[in-house]
Amino acid sequence: MPIPTLPLNDGTQIPSLAFGTGTTLLHHQDAQIMAIIESAISIGFTLFDGAQRYKNEAVLGAAIKASESTVPRSELFISTKYAPMTPGDTAKTALYKSLEKLGLEYVDLYLVHAPNEHMDGGGGGLREMWKVMEECKREGLARSIGVSNFGVGHLLEIVEGAQVLPAVNQLEIHPYVWDFVKPLIKMHKEHGIVTSSYGGLSPLFRAPGGPLDPVIEKIKARLEDTWGKPVTSGQVLNKWLLQHDVLVVTTSTKAERVREYVDTCDVPELTDEEMGLIESAGAEHHQSFFKHTKYYLEGI
Ligand SMILES: NC(=O)c1ccc[n+]([C@@H]2O[C@H](COP(=O)([O-])OP(=O)(O)OC[C@H]3O[C@@H](n4cnc5c(N)ncnc54)[C@H](OP(=O)(O)O)[C@@H]3O)[C@@H](O)[C@H]2O)c1
Repeated sequence: MPIPTLPLNDGTQIPSLAFGTGTTLLHHQDAQIMAIIESAISIGFTLFDGAQRYKNEAVLGAAIKASESTVPRSELFISTKYAPMTPGDTAKTALYKSLEKLGLEYVDLYLVHAPNEHMDGGGGGLREMWKVMEECKREGLARSIGVSNFGVGHLLEIVEGAQVLPAVNQLEIHPYVWDFVKPLIKMHKEHGIVTSSYGGLSPLFRAPGGPLDPVIEKIKARLEDTWGKPVTSGQVLNKWLLQHDVLVVTTSTKAERVREYVDTCDVPELTDEEMGLIESAGAEHHQSFFKHTKYYLEGI
């Protein structure tokens, strides 16, 4: 099954599964990163999540170019994130640099990496920065614009008075932060903002042995029984996110795992009871794994 899409509040569509070029890929050489991105393109990923801070946009660009004869750029959905890395850079000047590195005329999605870097002068800093993001969209440099690691307060600062609403907010999401992220997701729904997740597999591979593990094992066994094919624990957790209409940003350095991620779309649906079991096991243990999470989630 091709990767399903989610509607954005600017009238476009976004794939619901993305391949990330941060986290584990940051510990690999350029040639290895390029090979894994090319393989992800050939296996069926179309949305690639980059960032200025990852310092590997040129490698992503080279992989896009190398794959052009089989998958044209127009069929890909390329995203990058703004972080003020050079003094004096704005969202727009930084995007020009990204486009040059990527070898592209536009990105499909441009996110603000984190709110705290734009808080000079309180909410005013965020609002000024958002105006420049809107300019990037108006001038066709970015087809859609959004944010990452924004809490309810940060979103309120830019939503009021915005000409273009953020289309996406990308956050750490898994069952061990679910209770804390729910108010934010409620706000996203009110504004048609797509919730995008990273770190979704953290409970399984960054904190194994927690209350979620036996629940996932049980659901995995039930799905294998129903489907008659092997199902992985990661697929169960990513399926839980997808069934909440949460865009999953994941990654891997292994082609077999990349295929496993894409195949998640074919895994049968979890029942309402199974969805609830994951959430109640998650509520027994609160843990976050990424530094930006503290800017928007209280209590963790
Ligand atoms: N906006 C932000 O601030 C922000 C922050 C963090 C991440 N991100 C984005 O989100 C992307 C994905 O983040 P993530 O790495 O946290 O995603 P994730 O889906 O939580 O984890 C992916 C990792 O899980 C590992 N994994 C999967 N199955 C496994 C198994 N059976 N056994 C052991 N390990 C397994 C993979 O390792 P292998 O390589 O061994 O397969 C991979 O490193 C990043 O690359 C980045 O693009 C954004």
